[in-house]
Amino acid sequence: MSGVTDLPFRRLIRALSGDCSPLFVSEFLSAGSSVFLTPANLKAARFDKEEEPFCIQLFGHNAERLASAALQVQELGAASVELNAGCPAPKVAKKGSGAGLLKDLPNLAKILRAMKASIKVPLFLKCRLGWDENSICVNEVLEIAEGEGVEQLTVHGRTKEQGYKGLANWNIIGEIAAKAKIPVIGNGDINSMEKALNAIENYGVKGVAIGRAALHNPWIFNPSAKIDVRGAVLRFNELMMQDGFRPMQALGRLKQLCARLCSGAPDFRLKILRCQNHDEFLDNWANLSESAFSLP
Ligand SMILES: Cc1cc2nc3c(=O)[nH]c(=O)nc-3n(C[C@H](O)[C@H](O)[C@H](O)COP(=O)(O)O)c2cc1C
Repeated sequence: MSGVTDLPFRRLIRALSGDCSPLFVSEFLSAGSSVFLTPANLKAARFDKEEEPFCIQLFGHNAERLASAALQVQELGAASVELNAGCPAPKVAKKGSGAGLLKDLPNLAKILRAMKASIKVPLFLKCRLGWDENSICVNEVLEIAEGEGVEQLTVHGRTKEQGYKGLANWNIIGEIAAKAKIPVIGNGDINSMEKALNAIENYGVKGVAIGRAALHNPWIFNPSAKIDVRGAVLRFNELMMQDGFRPMQALGRLKQLCARLCSGAPDFRLKILRCQNHDEFLDNWANLSESAFSLP
């Protein structure tokens, strides 16, 4: 998740997940400009040995640039490369990238072909159901993906127009999983281990991808974890400091995590969100009562 699953956040998740570590995917990296390995992309492409086999996700709409970017992330050690055909953000989708690729399936096919030809590691695709409810195209996307040698398809069960509203349509995900010759990973609204296991059993997916729930409950991958909210947030802070975050940058990310963790304690949540600086946040956090939290 862009702006969320950077190296410090993934290190936190790993630390809290014990032996139940998930497979990690990078934030999406833009292959939109002529130079791919910008400082921002190099930073976002970093991963730890413990995260291997690590997947790096790319977005763009130009086949040559995506093929070249795929080769470059393979050289950086990615164990697989994923193309994003799901991002609904206007600055991405309107340019024909992310979910914009669902409006131009011939270009999607061309991109996958070029990426496939340039790398040796597996090529993955992540998509939504379609642009809107009148143009569901995930069936065609599956056909194209299989035809172009994609080795795994992750389906987020919403359309681009839905954004994050409503519920993911797991019936469609199940239909795709039943038809597919390649592994299908289901995505959307999985917020507990129980739901993950139910999805695998009831919809025939090979696995599930978990996004937002990792912010609401960073222990989600480890059902027997000992939950220590205070300690986890302090750990996240330390991990960001070790990674060279400026205090104000870290403050933004701490608020992002705590706003979710504290959703059951509205007064405390507001206090945290109103903190003006990093020191004020840490002072408030030190005075927190663990009972302020109710994890989903
Ligand atoms: C802040 C944010 C950033 C995201 N960035 C990405 C991204 O870079 N690549 C991607 O494939 N999906 C991205 N997503 C979508 C999630 O990966 C996921 O598909 C979606 O949130 C539905 O799954 P969930 O209900 O488990 O969150 C993002 C979602 C959010 C909320």
